[in-house]
Amino acid sequence: MSSILTGITTSGTPHLGNYIGAIKPSLIKIKKAKRSFLFLADYHSLIKQQEPELTHRSSLEIASAWLACGLNPKKTFFYRQSRVPQIMELNWILSNTTSKGLLNRAHAYKAAVDLNQEKKIKDLDKGISAGTFNYPILMAADILIFDAEIVPVGSDQKQHIEMTRDIALRFNHIYGETFKIPEAHISRDIPLLSGTDGRKMSKSYKNYIELFANEKELQKAINKIVTDSLLPGEPKKTKDSVLFNYFKAFSSKEFLLEVEKMFLDGKGWGDLKKELFTLVNKELKIYREKYYHYLDNSNEVEKILIEGENKVSSIAEKKLSEIRKKVGIRALDEK
Ligand code: TRP
Repeated sequence: MSSILTGITTSGTPHLGNYIGAIKPSLIKIKKAKRSFLFLADYHSLIKQQEPELTHRSSLEIASAWLACGLNPKKTFFYRQSRVPQIMELNWILSNTTSKGLLNRAHAYKAAVDLNQEKKIKDLDKGISAGTFNYPILMAADILIFDAEIVPVGSDQKQHIEMTRDIALRFNHIYGETFKIPEAHISRDIPLLSGTDGRKMSKSYKNYIELFANEKELQKAINKIVTDSLLPGEPKKTKDSVLFNYFKAFSSKEFLLEVEKMFLDGKGWGDLKKELFTLVNKELKIYREKYYHYLDNSNEVEKILIEGENKVSSIAEKKLSEIRKKVGIRALDEK
């Protein structure tokens, strides 16, 4: 596999949904790639919220989670977006070849406009930041500066990758062949892990399970997963069961068959939840200690990121100097 890149917005504490949907599958993909880039999208974080301590803390937590789960920074470029200023410079350059109309069509922006419309607010752009509007350009810069070919993302990000392709093609058309056209990889085989109430797992719904909650908290959070009110002894359906979905995300094929039988045989919800706790805890236990080690030793994480940033900065600078020349920004005595 070729060159692969993905970013994580640093605006929250890693939860089980992030682990199942992003961390675990990406670490497998990265192993097969020729070259891999994984970065903390800390400037994207400012689009979502304006709590400085949250952005800062989340950067440490997310970096620690990836390292704890086995990311090898010797084999993968691991860095913060904010420490590669060439990305921001490319962001501006691309802003001038990207049409405003393209951005008008972005789902996230449109959703915000629709919300204003629903609320019957006259100014449809009320409360929408320029950052929200420009979001897809920064994402394109993240990807294009490193000539990434494959971008594994969740299905909610699919449109952003399509926009990145449009942005790259347009630039290439105006200034000549410069960027590779990346492809999105959307994992369909990974079951989306829903929140404890069955809706999308999200911080705003308060229905998420922290990835590295301690054992007691983990059991408590699992106990909150919604079920119907069938009693022990009564057979339970696996279809549309939120709890069964969790089993699906963490079980081997063989164990899942056993779980199915437990449902069918009418094991009580309480016992099933204990079973799920054991399963999830077994997988996360080995990483949990490492995670807390990194949280307590943020200087180690900082050092690892700086090493990554030193490596990618020279790649980014090389690419950007080529781009600057193409648009006419170069030394005055340079032909
Ligand atoms: N916007 C992505 C998200 O919220 C994160 C992200 C930023 C990203 N830049 C990227 C993902 C570049 C892939 C490639 O999930």
